Amino acid sequence: MSGLLAGKRLLVTGVITDASIAFSVAKLAQENGAQVVLTGYGRLSLVERIAKRLPEPAPVIELDVTSPEHLAGLADRVREHVDGLDGVVHSIGFAPASCLGGGFLDAPWEDVATALHVSTYSYKSLAMAALPLMQPGGAVVGLTFDATKAWPVYDWMGVAKAGLESASRYLAQHLGGRGIRSNLVAAGPLRTIAAKSIPGFEQFEQAWTERAPLGWSLTDAEPAARACLALLSDWFPATTGEIVHVDGGYHALGA
Ligand SMILES: NC(=O)c1ccc[n+]([C@@H]2O[C@H](COP(=O)([O-])OP(=O)(O)OC[C@H]3O[C@@H](n4cnc5c(N)ncnc54)[C@H](O)[C@@H]3O)[C@@H](O)[C@H]2O)c1
Repeated sequence: MSGLLAGKRLLVTGVITDASIAFSVAKLAQENGAQVVLTGYGRLSLVERIAKRLPEPAPVIELDVTSPEHLAGLADRVREHVDGLDGVVHSIGFAPASCLGGGFLDAPWEDVATALHVSTYSYKSLAMAALPLMQPGGAVVGLTFDATKAWPVYDWMGVAKAGLESASRYLAQHLGGRGIRSNLVAAGPLRTIAAKSIPGFEQFEQAWTERAPLGWSLTDAEPAARACLALLSDWFPATTGEIVHVDGGYHALGA
């Protein structure tokens, strides 16, 4: 098999529809020589149906990334399909409605805690659950939305992403000695289920389509997926704790 990820074995979380960023990552990874195992959350039969739309139907393992039981059993479940992992993709985010859409000042801690558990702490949890299968040269890649600024309506999800960006740097620090890299892709707005659950998301859509220097497609996750593949590949061997913006250049602009 040839391709950028020839021979690599990947665990890809976060597929729920074919618009999911994770779906584009899984598809492109298979097209570039990787063997892909998916994890699904909640609606497993839906994820299995979507998995059949990949170039190679991929096995789906159930994973609620906040479940200690699921995390503890993950490596054994993955071993049923592949004998190790070269890469792990974290494409998971969730915040209760109170945390998004302008409710920053009122969101209760229990809801914020859920957002941080699913969207931030889970990055470390997933990496540690997969670690027994990984070797030097392996990579963990996650998806963020530029957390260096306060955006309209993103509220506690923005805080969760700031934490994710920090967690990725700490993971880079703690797993560097084992030869494992941790990097994030900061994607521009894409019309996925997660995005549609943010009231006022249209503001991002409008800003990006009007202002991104390279222009921006709200429905094409392939540019973000390509960056994930690059970071999972052997072409960034000395890069860790990094954030690559795949946003049409929006982050580079001033007000
Ligand atoms: N869509 C965007 O505009 C955008 C931009 C930048 C970054 N991101 C990030 O990309 C990642 C993927 O999101 P997406 O936009 O593809 O949306 P999506 O809705 O397709 O994917 C989100 C995934 O998170 C999973 N998930 C939620 N709670 C979970 C849990 N407890 N355990 C395991 N999985 C769980 C869902 O099942 C779903 O598959 C998220 O981290 C998101 O914040 C999205």
